[in-house]
Amino acid sequence: MELYCVIGYPIKHSLSPKLHNRAFRKLKIPARYEAVEVRPQNLAKFMRTFREKYAGGNVTIPYKVAVMKFLDGISPEARAIGAVNTIVNRGGKLVGYNTDMFGAVSALQQGMGRGGKGRKKGGKFLKGKQAVILGAGGAARAVVYGLKKAGAKVTILNRTLKHAKKLAKDFRCKSGQLKNSLSTKCDVLINTTSVGMWREKVKNQKSKIKMVNTPLPNLKEILRRSGKKPVVMDIIYRPRMTKFLRDAKRAGCKIITGDHMFLGQAAKAFELWTRQKMR
Ligand code: ATR
Repeated sequence: MELYCVIGYPIKHSLSPKLHNRAFRKLKIPARYEAVEVRPQNLAKFMRTFREKYAGGNVTIPYKVAVMKFLDGISPEARAIGAVNTIVNRGGKLVGYNTDMFGAVSALQQGMGRGGKGRKKGGKFLKGKQAVILGAGGAARAVVYGLKKAGAKVTILNRTLKHAKKLAKDFRCKSGQLKNSLSTKCDVLINTTSVGMWREKVKNQKSKIKMVNTPLPNLKEILRRSGKKPVVMDIIYRPRMTKFLRDAKRAGCKIITGDHMFLGQAAKAFELWTRQKMR
């Protein structure tokens, strides 16, 4: 029985074990996937255990960068993005990959109506399209890398302009301040900031605090005024329908929920481990 895991801190709410275990069962692969909460002070020690015990795994917040120094090899994509979310253990040699960028591009591919038959390979459907990315953190790096590779023209808008400029320089795209306007052309609009995410549970109460924040509070008005109708994607998947997406939908835009990117990155990781398509 091969073992796989996702490491993070905290990790309780990860959906990955359910998803991968279901795929292992369906494909009759004798493997199990578990979530392991690793405290920051224990990361080095855990990575030694990983090498001995696990055939592969995923890495999530806050270790996507920190884990890199414990690996023996890193794929060119993960190196360029500067973060690893998937590890393959090849006979004791740990190799890091980044499948978040595949997740982002495949989510867009499905959402933009190019799934199934006639699907253009390698995300060609994005070639020449104008993409506006909100946010300039770690998640943005993977999304920007994927979009650039697929031939899109990317503009990064961020609250802190300095961060946007740095990312834009690394990936040769445009940058600007996140504010209530979309002065640039926009075929695709993606939120990679954490604004709008469910963060906490109310103590002693089952219901979650619903954060009704959005990185662009006037999105509806901005879109109406500009007459633009981009495809709008959020990488947040809890909640599935963020305020950002709701506003976009109400303005008549096609929307892509964050679970598509989550599924896309998981499917690619599964393929790297098993060389089989996830089902
Ligand atoms: P991750 O690795 O998940 O992307 P991160 O590196 O902390 O997380 O990045 C979070 C992103 O969300 C950043 O672009 C951040 O903007 P700043 O660079 O200005 O910090 C953005 N962000 C977080 N809170 C925000 C808020 N309240 N309004 C606008 N942007 C916000």
